[in-house]
Parts: sequence; structure tokens; C-alpha cells
Amino acid sequence: MSSTNVSSPRGGISSTTILIIVVVGILLIIGGVLIGQLTPSLLPTQASAEARQIDDLFQVMLVIGGAIFLLVQGLLVFSIWRFRAKPGDTSDGIHMHGNTSLEITWTVIPAIIVVFLTVIAWQVWANLNTPRGDEMTVHVTGARFNWAFTYSAPLSIFPDAVDVSTLPASVQEDLQDDNAINVSSPVLHLYSGRAVALQMEPRDVIHAFWVPAFRLKQDLIPGRITTIHVTPVQEGTFPIKCAELCGANHGMMVGQVIVHADETAYNTWLVEEMRKVIYPPADPVVRGRNILSSNVYPCYTCHVLDDLAEFTWTGNVGPNLNGIADRAATSRASTTGLTPAEYLYTAVHEPGAYLAPGYGNLMPQLNIPECDSWAIVAYLATQSASGEAPFEVDQPPQCVITAGPGSAPAAEATSEATPAVAAPAEATAEATAGS
Ligand code: CUA
Repeated sequence: MSSTNVSSPRGGISSTTILIIVVVGILLIIGGVLIGQLTPSLLPTQASAEARQIDDLFQVMLVIGGAIFLLVQGLLVFSIWRFRAKPGDTSDGIHMHGNTSLEITWTVIPAIIVVFLTVIAWQVWANLNTPRGDEMTVHVTGARFNWAFTYSAPLSIFPDAVDVSTLPASVQEDLQDDNAINVSSPVLHLYSGRAVALQMEPRDVIHAFWVPAFRLKQDLIPGRITTIHVTPVQEGTFPIKCAELCGANHGMMVGQVIVHADETAYNTWLVEEMRKVIYPPADPVVRGRNILSSNVYPCYTCHVLDDLAEFTWTGNVGPNLNGIADRAATSRASTTGLTPAEYLYTAVHEPGAYLAPGYGNLMPQLNIPECDSWAIVAYLATQSASGEAPFEVDQPPQCVITAGPGSAPAAEATSEATPAVAAPAEATAEATAGS
């Protein structure tokens, strides 16, 4: 084989070759830009200010990556066509040993590209990790297999006059340090234009909080608090997913972000949630059912309970809770030596203390406050075959709640409320009228 096709070490490149290189270069750039422009149309909506920055960066990478892809694949196809063996040709190919200028070229160009991408990616990363001015804070809890969000709601936004001394002891305690109460929801509520710091912590294993519409993903790591900053810019409802394999129902560990149009709409929701906390139903059975049906705790992802089936209590990881009161009163009481109420309280509060036969120690410590736990016990005691509680549950004195404004109507309307939806209108109206 002659070596005339390989450019001679010192010879100049012909003008035809230069023209071909220029035309191919332009085609590669056009191809890269097309790939970069068309691919983002497959992505979900850009619902946060951060999504725009991330998509812009992604687009630059797609343009460069697209051009390189076309170059490599183009050379491959060209070589297959141009240098294929002729029929009957069994000779070896040309022996080449190095080409210094080619090697310098294919080292320097990628190095420049990588440094460029590092610089612009670093800028985006630094922006994302800078706390925004005037951001609010929401605490995010991940537990197998749900998301819960806790807000600090200042009493100052509550429209009605509140006599703090008549509120439940736990609420008074909560108000002491900052005159705000903690409100929890299984749905993340934000409003358009207001930056938020999401401080997240798991109750058990590693989870990853991912909102595709925000383009943000962050691991929740046991023993640490991780934070992301986000500014939602589009009103709407967007999915939250867990992006880290965390157990049997990992695929069902989904949630929602509701981005309200403005602060007024957000506060309207928050005030209704505050009302539920400030004026809980006096009956502990109703209170316990409300706590469980709110799905703030992940119980529903692992347990079946027919009475709460409408709140998706259909999990299949832990023991079935239908008829739990009968079992607490008979076999569990006799094997643990506890009263049925003590047994249920322990099962809620120290999940690993007594395991139901056939089940491992999988339930996380949920840190459910004492009085909420006792209310849950009062409710579980009613889950018997007969529908009557087979034993008494005495609430500790500090957990006894006297009826406040709105308590009774909220209790009656409970079965109609869906999780994370504001208190029924009649409860609100009555509370307002009574103040
Ligand atoms: Cu949590 Cu996967």
C-alpha cells in the first residue's frame, strides 16, 4: 500500500482538505446545536428558578456532547465504508506509529472543553448552594415510605383571637420559644416567587428527595441535615419522588409539591392547618384517627387498616392492623405482660420493643409526641372485630383536651376530609363566629 493517503509529515494540507474539514466542522456544530435544542423539549416543566440554570448548563453540555457524538459516529461510519477490505484482500493494514500533532490536538481540545464545563458547572453549583435572601425554612422528613414536611407557623398570621391559656399543653409548649407552632403535612406547600430552604433528615435509611420539575435532587443521610435552596416560579402541583432504593416500597415513596400563586393563598392553607393543631378534637379516638389519616407519619405505607383504606392504608410490609385491639387484649397482653393499652403505646413509641410474630425490626422510630401516641392508642383500641373497644385507654392528664372553638364540627367532618386538605368550611365558620 502506498502512503500517499496519509498526509506527509511536512507537506501542507491541500485546500480541498481544508474545505472538507470546515464543512464537516460546521455540520457537526449545527448537529450539536440541534441535539441541544431539541432534547430539552422532552424534560418536565421548569417550575423553579434553579431549573432554568440547570437546563441552560445541560443544554451547553448537550450541544458539545452532540457534536462529539456526531464526530465519533461519523468517523466510525466513514471508516467502515471507506477502509473496508476489498474482496479477496487478506493483507494487513498500514503500520502507523504515532502522530504527534494528532495526539496533541485530541488532548488539548478535550482538555479545553472539560475546563470550560468545570467552570460553568461550578458557577451553577455555587449559585444553588448559596442561601437566598428572605428564604423560609421547611423541614423535610423521609421515612420508609413517605415524605413529611414541617412548617413553623407564626401565631401572628392566625386571623382569630386566640386565648393561649386554653390551648392544649403541647401547643402552649410549642409556642413558648418563638410564638410559632409546628404544622406538618404530607404535601409540600410553597408559593411562587418565595425562596425556601428545605432542611432534610431521614428517620431510617438513606432516601433521595427529587422534584423533577425543580431539577433538584438531594440525599437524606442518617445523622445529618442536608439542605437545598429552591425558588418555585410556577403555580401548580408537581411530583416528588424518592431516588434512592430504600426498601420494599421504594417505588411508592412519592409525594407532591403544591406551589401556590402567592403568599395569601399559601397563608390560607397554613391557617387552616394551624386551626387543626390549635383546636384538636376533644375525643382522643377522633384525634388519633385524624393523626393517622393525615398520613404525616408513614404508617400507611407498611400497614393495612380497612377503616382507613380511603387514606391509602394498604401497605404490605408490616403486620395487618385489622382487629389489632383484639390481639392486644389477648395474645400480646399475655406474651408481653403489659396491659393492652401499654402494649399498643409501646408498639407505637418503641417499635423494636416487641415484634409481631413473623416480622423483623423494620419500623423506624417515628418520635410521635406522647399525647399524639396516646390518641393513636385510643383509636387503635376501637379496631376490634365487634367495633367496640375491648379495653379502656386512660389518657394521661396532660393529654386531656377540653373542647375548643371548632373542635366538635372538625371531629364530625373528619371522615369527609382527605389527607392534607384544610379543615372543613363549617368548622372554620363556627370558629370565626365563636371568637
Ligand atoms: Cu425512600 Cu426510596
